[in-house]
Amino acid sequence: MRPSPTLLCRLDELPDGESRGFDPLGAGQDSVFVVRRGQRLYGYRDQCPHYGDTPMAWRRHAYLDAARDHIVCAAHGALFRIADGACVRGPCLGQSLAPVRLVVEDGCVYLVQ
Ligand code: FES
Repeated sequence: MRPSPTLLCRLDELPDGESRGFDPLGAGQDSVFVVRRGQRLYGYRDQCPHYGDTPMAWRRHAYLDAARDHIVCAAHGALFRIADGACVRGPCLGQSLAPVRLVVEDGCVYLVQ
């Protein structure tokens, strides 16, 4: 079966250096998030590997640390590299966020499931 892309937003709705959560399943809670660095996008499931279903953000769209150079889990402070989701500090050191596949087409960002 061919993967079906789900529209997340327009690319220009993702400011450079920022993060944003999405609820593509309409579950009432964000289940994926995207970090933009220049023209590159990094998408992950909104689930901390420390506890499998723990959402990461301390408030909506707030997935980055104060320096904005790592993803942070609000629950116990684990830090993750933006580029590959690897935990570099905290209780799940050595584990990684689960990446999601994103496609940008005609100025829009799609999640491919
Ligand atoms: S649940 Fe994320 S660091 Fe503990």
